[in-house]
Amino acid sequence: MSDKEIDDVTGTATTGHEWDGIKELNTPLPRWWLWTFYGCIAFAIGYSVVYPAWPLITSATPGVIGYSSRAELDKDLAAATAAQGDRIAQIAATPVADILNDAELARFATAGGKSLFKVYCSQCHGTGATGSAGYPNLNDDEWIWGGTIDQIHTTLTHGVRSEADPDTRFNMMPNFGADELLTAEEIDSVAKEVASYSGIEGGVTSPEGIQLFADNCAACHGEKGEGLPELGGPSLTDQIWLYQGTLDGIKAQLNQTRHGVMPAWGARLGDSAVKQLAVYVHGLGGGQ
Ligand code: HEC
Ligand code: HEC
Repeated sequence: MSDKEIDDVTGTATTGHEWDGIKELNTPLPRWWLWTFYGCIAFAIGYSVVYPAWPLITSATPGVIGYSSRAELDKDLAAATAAQGDRIAQIAATPVADILNDAELARFATAGGKSLFKVYCSQCHGTGATGSAGYPNLNDDEWIWGGTIDQIHTTLTHGVRSEADPDTRFNMMPNFGADELLTAEEIDSVAKEVASYSGIEGGVTSPEGIQLFADNCAACHGEKGEGLPELGGPSLTDQIWLYQGTLDGIKAQLNQTRHGVMPAWGARLGDSAVKQLAVYVHGLGGGQ
């Protein structure tokens, strides 16, 4: 039985095991493979002694050097917060307009504002702040409520028509059509008047149109429709429209007004965050 035979076909020694005339060849694992395998076992034993490894009921064996990935994370976070801490405190203590004069601080605020914007603002204004119908583009030069850093800061702090903030930006355009403040003919003629300011198709200026605009619209939109940021009356003279820049769109706003609502961010995010957002938005290109 123990005689090692040599298999005729392959020339390999057999193990001496035989089943129904079938003999098992003896082909041992290569040495290098075996030693690597033993090395891995030795390493795993060493590792499980040094690092946390074996699961227990509520935790795991701690390992002799006391490493914990959670403690590492806490350390990293503490370091990051400490690095930011000075800057955040500096932003809190600096009037928002002065942040722009400090290149280093402005850079920090812009970076912070950019990431806050992604979380809190992009749903409505778009990731690139380009806006959409009813949600203003924040990259352009037209500002409903003003484009200086202080005006932007106020808009962000108190929101627009936000029920939650008594100091919110607020102005309502009268419902000229629905409340029958103007007749259908008057609406037609003032809408054509407004359309003529920016060369919209169908726009025609007329003496009645001019008179109607002066009597009903100039108070909020400016003498020539150039906009009044103090009151939130948007400019009606450029190609930038919050709603729809067509004759029908203008008539629609006159017949049944729409008003944008933006949440007040001051109480929610705190003043440092709002300042960072204001610096970021101001820096998008249209800041005045
Ligand atoms: C729920 C939707 C919504 C969210 C979220 C939102 N906004 Fe607004 N935002 C609006 C609307 C609507 C207006 C236009 C208000 C109006 O019609 O006067 C506006 C207006 C503004 C204005 C004034 C633009 C101008 O022309 O004067 C700024 C600046 C602004 N948003 C920045 C932000 C920032 C920064 C954030 C994030 C912290 C944010 N918004 C989040 C809806 C939103
Ligand atoms: C009491 C103030 C007030 C008066 C008066 C007023 N508006 Fe407005 N109008 C507004 C406000 C505020 C908005 C912006 C609504 C918003 O931000 O959602 C607006 C928006 C508009 C828009 C939409 C602008 C856009 O960019 O899409 C048009 C068009 C318009 N008004 C035309 C008129 C005309 C024409 C009259 C006169 C017949 C008039 N408004 C009178 C306050 C007024």
